[in-house]
Amino acid sequence: MTTTATAHTNIALIKYWGKKDPIFNLPTTSSLSLTLNEFYTQTTVSVNPLADELIINGQAFDSTRTHHFLDMLRDQLGDFAPLTVTSENHVPTGAGLASSASAFAALTGAVTRELGLDLSLAELSRLARRGSGSASRSFYGHFAIWHEGHDDVSSFAESLNAPAMPIALVVAEVSTATKKVGSTEGMRRAATSPDYDTWVKNSKVQLKDMLAAIQASDLEKIGTIAEANALAMHDLNLTARDAPFTYFTPETTQILTLVADMRRQGLLAYATLDAGPNVKIITSQAQAPGIVAQLQAALPALHLEIATSGAGIHYD
Ligand code: PMV
Repeated sequence: MTTTATAHTNIALIKYWGKKDPIFNLPTTSSLSLTLNEFYTQTTVSVNPLADELIINGQAFDSTRTHHFLDMLRDQLGDFAPLTVTSENHVPTGAGLASSASAFAALTGAVTRELGLDLSLAELSRLARRGSGSASRSFYGHFAIWHEGHDDVSSFAESLNAPAMPIALVVAEVSTATKKVGSTEGMRRAATSPDYDTWVKNSKVQLKDMLAAIQASDLEKIGTIAEANALAMHDLNLTARDAPFTYFTPETTQILTLVADMRRQGLLAYATLDAGPNVKIITSQAQAPGIVAQLQAALPALHLEIATSGAGIHYD
């Protein structure tokens, strides 16, 4: 028997950037995301007679993190036979777009189905959180909220049941030669910033304001809050007492300046950034092509894609 699951990646509009428990991946704040239609991971699992085997994008891949995750699932769900896991990432390569969210969500869905378990989305979300925090949000379409919780049971994501709206994200893929700081290490450093407690406090207010903006389908407000939250997250990296750093490259800064310029022209354009130099511009579906054209004119080598709101996990 084989089981195939597809999960889409998500971009946080209110970020997860810090762990209060690194083993269980319990975050210091609740976070909120938009699932993206265009970027996803499709994962097939089947029993392997010998040992767990991972094949990612057609190549054998020995990921310690994934092996540990499968063993954690055995602890939680009861022992199961070794598996062959075949995964295709439909996330632009080298884009620095986290494929870990869609990858751990698809893997959790495929393994539990293969075992004949019919878990709720909240239960799947709790399990996937242990592989990658952001994966907890990738089971749901459109907008999802990950409640920080205080233990393994209370920390999970759910759908916001938000109204449909014509939101779009322009993804600007900035290339980088330098090796990036992984999210776990980045979060550890950020927590040493003297501004960290303020960030946690502000994040609670921003989350409340974001929930209201989403229910009102107010794209301007969604963008304003998301940009403020993301830039404050990146300030923590710069002001870390232990090993300050930045994910920004000169091209990142250039794009942020262009986004501010476009806003002055009256366009709907707000930036958000994750653990890398790429910029995702929050806009409407109607304005996305114009934003792509302006960025392309200013930076001809820049790779740009338009993403829209996507669906939750599905099985073939
Ligand atoms: O889930 P992780 O460990 O890859 O961390 C994700 C961190 C951010 O992408 C920067 C923010 C988020 O909430 O997705």
